[in-house]
Amino acid sequence: MNLSPVIAPSILSADFGNVSREIERIHQAGATWVHLDVMDGNFVPNITFGAVAMESFSKPEGCVFDTHLMVVNPEKHIPAFIKAGADVISIHAEATEHLQYGLKMIRDHGAKASVALNPATPLEALDWVYPDLDMVLLMSVNPGWGGQSFIAPVFDKIRSLRQRLQDRGIDIPIQVDGGINLKTIARASLAGTTHFVAGSAVFTVKAGDALDEKDRLETYRKNINGLIEEATRDQLV
Ligand code: DX5
Ligand code: ZN
Repeated sequence: MNLSPVIAPSILSADFGNVSREIERIHQAGATWVHLDVMDGNFVPNITFGAVAMESFSKPEGCVFDTHLMVVNPEKHIPAFIKAGADVISIHAEATEHLQYGLKMIRDHGAKASVALNPATPLEALDWVYPDLDMVLLMSVNPGWGGQSFIAPVFDKIRSLRQRLQDRGIDIPIQVDGGINLKTIARASLAGTTHFVAGSAVFTVKAGDALDEKDRLETYRKNINGLIEEATRDQLV
């Protein structure tokens, strides 16, 4: 996958009454990826939507459906989510006994395979599946809700993962999910993140400012692209 920075707005913070319109709007605002948070009420307490509902979401031309499965035994559901339009699927290492099998299944069905790790899950969970990975998703909040604060030790985890990937000669995206704001996006970017999930920071329903989604995405992109002041950068590293 391309390592150019990507912001994937999470529709968890969008208007669930009109998901297709929200996806279209955020895509028009310049988002090439849209993050779809699937929760099963078991791996995490909340329930969002499943593959049947997702199949009814309109997918704009060229839009990547980045699907984050917060469900137990995700391998049972992978084919259905790919049929529903998933281009990238993240499965949680904590939610399956069969991680490598699940990752292989994602690729065999034609999507990109990613492992998601909760904040306290060690990077060693990836040790025997590096060849099966197209991306790694590091959770920077405990999964289940939008609008939480970034858990600070995850910055070191990002740095450590980037180092491990480099040591193995693997160039894949690190995606960070949870608590992204203007400051944490800069810090996560400097630590080695290329892909950022942003829910409450981007969608108007939750952001609570006068900007529109396009302006917000642009402001966030500038911070990723290193246009932060040198002085600020020094404080952030
Ligand atoms: C949390 C979800 C996130 C969530 C992020 O379980 O995986 O994708 O939408 O929301 P914010 O950006 O508001 O922290
Ligand atoms: Zn997510």
